Amino acid sequence: MNLFSPFKLGPMEMPNRMVMSALTRCRAVEGNVPGPLAVTYYTQRASAGLILTEATQVTPMGQGYPNTPGIHSPEQVKGWIKVTDAVHQAGGRIFLQLWHVGRVSLPDFHGGELPVAPSALPVEGELFNLQGQKKKLVTPRALELSEIPQVVQQFKTGAENAMAAGFDGVEIHGANGYLLDQFTKDGSNHRTDAYGGSLENRLRFPLEVADAVAEVWGPERVGYRIAPYFTHYSISDSNPVETFTCLAQELSRRKLVYLDLIEGVSGPRVPPPGSILLTSLLRKEFKQALMVNGGYTAQSGNEILEKGGADLVCYGTLFLANPDLPERFRKNAPLNAPDPATYYSRGEKGYTDYPKM
Ligand SMILES: Cc1cc2nc3c(=O)[nH]c(=O)nc-3n(C[C@H](O)[C@H](O)[C@H](O)COP(=O)(O)O)c2cc1C
Repeated sequence: MNLFSPFKLGPMEMPNRMVMSALTRCRAVEGNVPGPLAVTYYTQRASAGLILTEATQVTPMGQGYPNTPGIHSPEQVKGWIKVTDAVHQAGGRIFLQLWHVGRVSLPDFHGGELPVAPSALPVEGELFNLQGQKKKLVTPRALELSEIPQVVQQFKTGAENAMAAGFDGVEIHGANGYLLDQFTKDGSNHRTDAYGGSLENRLRFPLEVADAVAEVWGPERVGYRIAPYFTHYSISDSNPVETFTCLAQELSRRKLVYLDLIEGVSGPRVPPPGSILLTSLLRKEFKQALMVNGGYTAQSGNEILEKGGADLVCYGTLFLANPDLPERFRKNAPLNAPDPATYYSRGEKGYTDYPKM
């Protein structure tokens, strides 16, 4: 068993176990539509066992960065159809990552209105607005109880639109301090209604989203990403082991096709000092595929698969810089180095111009 062993993900045959991780690139065109460069970028990477798209907002309120694509308008669906058609023609498979940033946003993106969150708590951090100015995050507005079903519905509509756009499935973005993570973790969720307080209540919204999305796609085409130890943007949980064991059990019971787990705070594939390794713990709790994510190389990816510690390995920055990453791994060839200066810039540079071997 290694990175080049085929894998059956739900009904889908993957020729290898290398997944291109979700990578925000901030290059959508007018109307937050993926443009022609996105078609080229994803098609170049079609040899991945599976491509996960960049995080894609399900509603304008779900946006927190400039020029990120959406999946809530007909123009966006049309833009994505071009991407999925080209990837499929090149022999690839592609899931859309469904996203709502919640409080990790600025009023600048919302005509001056406050971003939304489970609770109105201050958030540390800075983001760029549409004019490229760096601005401090603000204290968001708490979602009214009556608004929560609408947000669940936005995820469901996003899932329906993703189906209309020709994707092979979707990944729910439950990680990295965004809205679902904000409801899940007790540091950001101080609600006293049915959506906060007890662990069961904190998981209510993320699980309602999972159920709504699975209703559209069937659970065999829905994955879920978590980052239990992620702590940027003031997010924290007092007991990540308990919280994410319970979430993994609930998602497993619902037969979601994979759990995409980021073990480290960000980057390295190790938990923070003194914390329990969740990869092996959640491997036991989640009965469908486990996808590991963060800091993997060819060697460490092959090692974890050989040991049966995971089924799939995500590569982020390496896929960003190496469109033909599977072939390079197979031949043990040198890799292009990723250029952080062009991660979130505009145009082809650092996007579609990384050379193949
Ligand atoms: C430029 C950039 C953009 C990212 N955008 C997203 C995103 O949209 N959604 C997401 O879940 N993670 C995102 N991540 C995290 C990656 O998917 C991945 O988890 C991380 O890069 C660690 O994996 P790696 O060490 O293989 O790069 C991003 C990371 C980078 C470097």
